[in-house]
Amino acid sequence: QRHLISAADLTRDDAVLILDTAEEMARVADRPIKKLPTLRGRTVVNLFFEDSTRTRISFEAAEKRLSADVINFSAKGSSVSKGESLKDTAQTLEAMGVDAVVIRHSASGAPYRLATSGWIDAVVINAGDGTHQHPTQALLDAFTLRRRLIGPDAGYGQDLSGKRVTIVGDVLHSRVARSNVDLLHTLGAEVTLVAPPTLLPVGVESWPCEVSYDLDAALPKCDAVMMLRVQRERMNAAFFPTEREYSRRYGLDAQRMARLPEHALVMHPGPMVRGMEITAEVADSGRCTAVEQVANGVSIRMAVLYLLLGGMEPAVTHSRSEEK
Ligand code: CP
Repeated sequence: QRHLISAADLTRDDAVLILDTAEEMARVADRPIKKLPTLRGRTVVNLFFEDSTRTRISFEAAEKRLSADVINFSAKGSSVSKGESLKDTAQTLEAMGVDAVVIRHSASGAPYRLATSGWIDAVVINAGDGTHQHPTQALLDAFTLRRRLIGPDAGYGQDLSGKRVTIVGDVLHSRVARSNVDLLHTLGAEVTLVAPPTLLPVGVESWPCEVSYDLDAALPKCDAVMMLRVQRERMNAAFFPTEREYSRRYGLDAQRMARLPEHALVMHPGPMVRGMEITAEVADSGRCTAVEQVANGVSIRMAVLYLLLGGMEPAVTHSRSEEK
């Protein structure tokens, strides 16, 4: 059984295969009928214990484009609010015969637990767990980088060797930063993290990247800058940086954006807090790929579902239960 739990589990060849498959999927999205029959008869459940706009909608779009049967589960309004455990929720889904579970959870490690516990037989795809990992976000970011910096056709089979990416902001709470450092390093890119010392995790020195506190110095040397949201919901209120102080040192405004090389991209995984880490002027400029990243997310999630589920038999719950 294969799962997608962490970007760190992907080899260079795995990652390039996913990016190449996503290129094929992007071509499906350009056709008048945007559907493939690949997952007909397969059931995918989107199990969201934490809020999401982009990831949730793009997984659903990807599943429907591959003709899967889709079940959306939100912890809000479910029996989780009555105290039901992850195990009991998972076993309820298993009883209904799901082939794949796309899970977002506030607890780091929840997707790993689901994949390794034996509670379910389904493929598990991590859609973001706590401050740990968000592998499909890193894949869609790498896809966006490869398409923009190398090209959709020229990019086939290529990694990101020699490309320089600067990731800025609240690294401490960011699963996007962790996943991107892992994947971009695997793909040969050079990553620099820029953050206030209080928003860097303990042990960051051992990550495969550079660390800097000087955004103005880092910008002229990069092919892309990725701005991170300050995740107030994961912070004690006493540690909130003030908007003015944070944006003065670590925010991207038009004046700072001018320090980037002409070809460099401005990326943001979303949701953006305009006025904090990025000004509205930069967010709405032609340099910012935030909306393109969302569109690319559908292609990447189609590719991941296709590669993990495409060759599998549909789940047959009752016969499986009888075998156990
Ligand atoms: N980038 C991202 O994960 O956004 P959502 O939280 O809206 O899914």
